[in-house]
Amino acid sequence: MANLLEGKSALITGCGSGIGRAAALAFGRAGAIVTCADVDQKGGDATVALIREAHGKAEFVRADVTDPNQVQALIAHVVTGHGRLDCAFNNAGIEGDVIELHDASERNFDRVMGVNVKGVWLCMKYEIRQMRKQGGGAIVNTASVAGLSGFPSLGIYVASKHAVVGLTKSAAVECAQVGIRVNAVCPGPVDTPMMERIASNEGQPGRKDFEAIVPMRRYAAPREIAETVVWLCSDQASYITGVSLPVDGGLVAT
Ligand SMILES: NC(=O)c1ccc[n+]([C@@H]2O[C@H](COP(=O)([O-])OP(=O)(O)OC[C@H]3O[C@@H](n4cnc5c(N)ncnc54)[C@H](O)[C@@H]3O)[C@@H](O)[C@H]2O)c1
Repeated sequence: MANLLEGKSALITGCGSGIGRAAALAFGRAGAIVTCADVDQKGGDATVALIREAHGKAEFVRADVTDPNQVQALIAHVVTGHGRLDCAFNNAGIEGDVIELHDASERNFDRVMGVNVKGVWLCMKYEIRQMRKQGGGAIVNTASVAGLSGFPSLGIYVASKHAVVGLTKSAAVECAQVGIRVNAVCPGPVDTPMMERIASNEGQPGRKDFEAIVPMRRYAAPREIAETVVWLCSDQASYITGVSLPVDGGLVAT
């Protein structure tokens, strides 16, 4: 993947952990100048340090994707610093409570929808405005296999990820004639702190159960999602838009 994004200005949200961190590292290896955003300053700083150790270019900006002012300021910061925004990976997300729908709370609904749906929409809103101005760009959103199928005890998360798929399709169609491609990745279980939290709930499926439903019988490494995102953002994927691509060891094929 070396040089696939040489000199491109890239923004990644949720970069302080898991898939976002792996993506920030992959974008750095691919030659991009990476702006890493997260609410977690410590995690974000650690990601930037890892990129710099590998001789990549990166900086951290603390931003909450649910706050329109912070999102607008984040995109403005990227453009002021690097002149443009070529690639955006809207990846920040939360799983919320692992609980059946009839026991779930309104607070959990608002929190999950706030980060996973409003956050992705707000990021796209300001990214697309900038990309329209500069005449193109590539956006990838993190949906999930939970954006394509239902899963017990994760119904609100599932609804939020179906919404990400819908936002992705609509943005892709709106932007197809102005040089902006918009796609989503739909990971199956990935070895990250989020999946560790989901699989450690008492009385709920654990790691072995999740591995057992994946035809490849294993979790993805975060890097396997990251490399897919780099490729989707690159010119090698120049005719791909509006797609929600499973990266799931065959899970949605079952
Ligand atoms: N891990 C999996 O198995 C899996 C599978 C499918 C999809 N996903 C999705 O991948 C994305 C990343 O998940 P992960 O597994 O790396 O999780 P993670 O919990 O390891 O990392 C998520 C990151 O997002 C950040 N974040 C949370 N709320 C934020 C906000 N409001 N503003 C900015 N940053 C915020 C967190 O601080 C954290 O650094 C999420 O959208 C998740 O839903 C994960």
